[in-house]
Amino acid sequence: MMDLRKDFPIFQNSMNGKRFTYLDTGASAQKPQKVIDSMNQAIVNNYSNIHRGLYNFSQLITEQYEAARSKIADFFAVNEKEIIFTRNATESINLVAQSWVRNNLSQGDEIIITQMEHHANIVPWQILREQIGIVLKIIPVLDNGELDLDSYKNLLSDKTKLVSIVHISNSIGIVNDVRNISKIAKKFNPEIKVIIDGSQAVVHNVINISDMGCDFYVFSGHKLYGPTGIGILWGKYSLLENMPPYQGGGDMIETVTFEKTTFQKPPARFEAGTSAIIEAIGLGAAIDYLKSIGMSNISAHEKELYNYAMDSLSNIDGLKFYGTSENKAAIISFCADWGHISDIAMILDQCGVAVRTGHHCCMPLMEKFGIEGTVRASFGCYNNKEDVDIFIKSLEKAKDMLS
Ligand code: ALA
Repeated sequence: MMDLRKDFPIFQNSMNGKRFTYLDTGASAQKPQKVIDSMNQAIVNNYSNIHRGLYNFSQLITEQYEAARSKIADFFAVNEKEIIFTRNATESINLVAQSWVRNNLSQGDEIIITQMEHHANIVPWQILREQIGIVLKIIPVLDNGELDLDSYKNLLSDKTKLVSIVHISNSIGIVNDVRNISKIAKKFNPEIKVIIDGSQAVVHNVINISDMGCDFYVFSGHKLYGPTGIGILWGKYSLLENMPPYQGGGDMIETVTFEKTTFQKPPARFEAGTSAIIEAIGLGAAIDYLKSIGMSNISAHEKELYNYAMDSLSNIDGLKFYGTSENKAAIISFCADWGHISDIAMILDQCGVAVRTGHHCCMPLMEKFGIEGTVRASFGCYNNKEDVDIFIKSLEKAKDMLS
């Protein structure tokens, strides 16, 4: 079995005096040495601002920043002019909301999202509802965690302008058939636009964005083994080139007078101010790292760990799992009838095991299941069977202490 733990320096540390067992990649992934080195080197060797200086170091760092864009475009099989650097997936969604959507939808137009969305794919649309009076419609989730596609078909109407859906649920790990969901929307009306939140999907699978049938695809760099503060918005160029800027400032203009400003073409139009230069370079290095391992190898490795963990968990009484459909990524979400989720997480912490507990920024989904939250164990490329064994042993300890 693949063992990448040695590539990630954080695992040299202990947590609470115990071996660090990290099962919270869904929240943020650890960083390989290669990413850390690439960022250090850019700072130490030739740090300066991009797109502005005629001197050698500025040219060099501009090339590194733009090379990161090309690597990302190549990895996801899209054109580099369609890759916009943002702060994170949240900012990418807000950008589309306040640029394309605010300028193309009006009162009464409908946006369809799902009951399993992260708050980042709910709240921006509620803000727009306040601003321009759009209507928000929700695809329900079935008891096994899958989307109710029959209800989805019934929600589509001649007022539907946008469908915005999560690719893999961060809270229960369900993998949505986003190609089919896009296809249904486009068949109903080719003018409907589709946004996919790929924040969890890019971590677990090989993603060919141009094959998804969507118009926008968003994700955060920190979940993909890159640094925080950098995210991606991919959009079809035909849409991006007609979208007004999201923010105004330096680097996104062609000419400025006090009377009028003209804007650069995408992607520069949407990258106002000094960008997260070092973070973009770090994300490029994360892509290099993932390519050297192979996303399909990571996917197969995580699947094996997930099956191993689920087999072991079946020996612990009193657990109730959420997201029980077969279409799952390596994310396990559960409650226990013998203990509160926060107490379980605290005991796991004392055993050196990091999981996330709570509503996972998906309060409406928790409400549907009638729970306050779950314990979530999410796997990354560096996890191994030892992580699972320690997790299971610690959970058994929690059960003994709390029962
Ligand atoms: N959205 C991240 C998570 O699922 C933070 O934990």
